[in-house]
Amino acid sequence: MGKLAGKIAVVTGGNSGIGLATAKRFVAEGAEVFITGRRQEELDRAVEEIGAGVTAVQGDVSRLDDLGRLFSAVRAKSGRIDVLFANAGLGNMAPLGAIDEASFDLTFNVNVKGTLFTVQKALPLMQAGGSVILTGSTTGSRGTPAFSVYSATKAAVRNLARSWALDLRGTGIRVNVLSPGATDTPGVRGLVNAGEDDALLASLAAQIPLGRVGNPEETAAVALFLASDESSFMTGSEVFVDGGAAQV
Ligand SMILES: NC(=O)c1ccc[n+]([C@@H]2O[C@H](COP(=O)([O-])OP(=O)(O)OC[C@H]3O[C@@H](n4cnc5c(N)ncnc54)[C@H](OP(=O)(O)O)[C@@H]3O)[C@@H](O)[C@H]2O)c1
Repeated sequence: MGKLAGKIAVVTGGNSGIGLATAKRFVAEGAEVFITGRRQEELDRAVEEIGAGVTAVQGDVSRLDDLGRLFSAVRAKSGRIDVLFANAGLGNMAPLGAIDEASFDLTFNVNVKGTLFTVQKALPLMQAGGSVILTGSTTGSRGTPAFSVYSATKAAVRNLARSWALDLRGTGIRVNVLSPGATDTPGVRGLVNAGEDDALLASLAAQIPLGRVGNPEETAAVALFLASDESSFMTGSEVFVDGGAAQV
C-alpha cells in the first residue's frame, strides 16, 4: 500500500520541476492527482510521463475563474481534496533600480495572490485530515541579490501559513510551507540566458553546505511526508529542503 493510497491530491505547477516530480511521486504512492499549469503542451507531456492516475486541468492560478474551473473539475471527478500542493510560482532577477512594475505585478499575482486563492477556493472541498502544502523558498528568509521581489513573495507565503494555521483551528486541516533551496529545475535554469544555466547552478552549488544543488525528487520526498499522515502533528511549520543553505 502506498503512503497516499486512496487520497485525492491537487498539485499546481504540476507540469514541470518540483511540481511534476511531486505529482509523479504522489501517483506512485497511490494518490489520484490533478495537476495544473498554464501551458497545455507541458501538461500533455506530464500526463504522458506520469501515466494513469493523473488528470490535467489547464489554468492560471492568478485568475480566479481558472481556479474555479480547476476545482469544479476536481469536485465533479473526485468530490473532495485530501492534499493540496500550492506550488505554482515564478520569479525573475532584477536588482533594486531595475525592477519594473509588470514583473512585480506578475510575481506577486502568481506567488501570493495565486497561492492565496488556490487555497481559499480549495477549502470547501477539504475536510479533517487534509494537508495543505505551500511552496516557499530559502529566499523568503534570506537576502538574495537581484531577487528581492521574488524573495518578498516567498516571505509572504511563509506568513500565510502561520496565519492560516490559526484560521484553520478546529477544522483538522493542516497547512505547512515546504521551502526548497536551489534545485535543478527548468524554472531555475530559465533565470539566465541559454547557455549560462550550468554556470548558474555551479555557483549556487558552491554556496550550499552539501556542495550541490538539489533535485526535484528530493523535494517531492518531503512533500510526500507533509502530505501524508506521518506529519499529522505539524501545522504552521516551514520545512527546508536546501542542502543546509539557509540553516548555517
Ligand atoms: N527550483 C528552485 O531552486 C526553487 C527554490 C525555491 C523555491 N522554488 C519554488 O518551487 C516552485 C516550483 O518551481 P520549479 O523550480 O519547479 O520551477 P518550474 O520548473 O518553472 O515550475 C514552475 C511551475 O509553475 C507553473 N506556473 C507558473 N506560473 C503559473 C501560473 N500563473 N498558473 C499556473 N501555473 C503556473 C509552471 O507551469 P506553466 O508555466 O505551464 O504555467 C510550472 O509548472 C515555485 O513556487 C518556485 O518558486 C523553486
